[in-house]
Amino acid sequence: EIVVDDPARPHTGRVALVTGAAQGIGASMAAVLARDGAHVVCADVPAQGEALARVANHVGGSTLHLDVTAEGAPQALVDHLRERHGGVDVVVHNAGITRDKTLAGMDDARWDAVLEVNLVSQERLDEALLDADLLRPGGRIVGVSSIGGIAGNRGQTNYGASKAGVIGRVEALADELADRDATSNAVAPGFIETAMTERMPVGVREAGRRMNSLNQGGRPVDVAEAVSWLADVRSGAVNGQVVRVCGQSLL
Ligand code: NAI
Repeated sequence: EIVVDDPARPHTGRVALVTGAAQGIGASMAAVLARDGAHVVCADVPAQGEALARVANHVGGSTLHLDVTAEGAPQALVDHLRERHGGVDVVVHNAGITRDKTLAGMDDARWDAVLEVNLVSQERLDEALLDADLLRPGGRIVGVSSIGGIAGNRGQTNYGASKAGVIGRVEALADELADRDATSNAVAPGFIETAMTERMPVGVREAGRRMNSLNQGGRPVDVAEAVSWLADVRSGAVNGQVVRVCGQSLL
């Protein structure tokens, strides 16, 4: 007998946290996860409050003002999820920043800021959630890496290190999570058209588009669809993997 799950709204009844959800790829993730049935807790820095409220409203989710690097962030997250939802099923570590400079200008402040937001915060938040036993069975942790953490971009030693770190982290965590009937995976997007890439010099942007086998920038929703699949209970046999998104077959 062949048994298949009903694919319609596979996240029904599940709670998904998306960090950096106020715009760009995170906002698309919130929309796709909500479309697929999840209640989405949309988290971002307080300064993004208005944009965040718009996204949460649009997807029928809720907001959480959370700077992932703030000292009290892990506890605030634990308190919020425990009180409002009793736990969490999907955690998407999407918050990310760039502070590009070639090596001569790469001061400690740029290095530390990027490592803190893009990598270290993921460890602190996951640790707090697991310690508090809030990740429910069937739980999914998805780290957002980057092709820049696999191939490396000029001027991004800090960013590349942080995004390569995300891959090492989800791979190491996979084994621990298997004991909890949960998984950790990462997506590594290529060049996606958002505010982050809009800030890049024109030549770098054009090179980014050419790196994509489709010869154009990817869309935030392309990444969001892959994340929704990794967040799905049906992807339970996929653990400790990195899904490259956006036709980077030229690498
Ligand atoms: P974006 O700059 O448009 O959005 C990033 C969001 O993260 C913003 O809403 C920002 O407020 C939030 N954020 C920043 N610091 C935060 C903090 N300390 N706490 C909570 N939220 C914080 O960027 P985009 O392009 O949407 O990127 C999303 C993720 O995808 C990032 O991790 C980025 O590194 C990654 N990525 C993006 C690619 C691209 O081509 N756009 C390619 C590969 C990866």
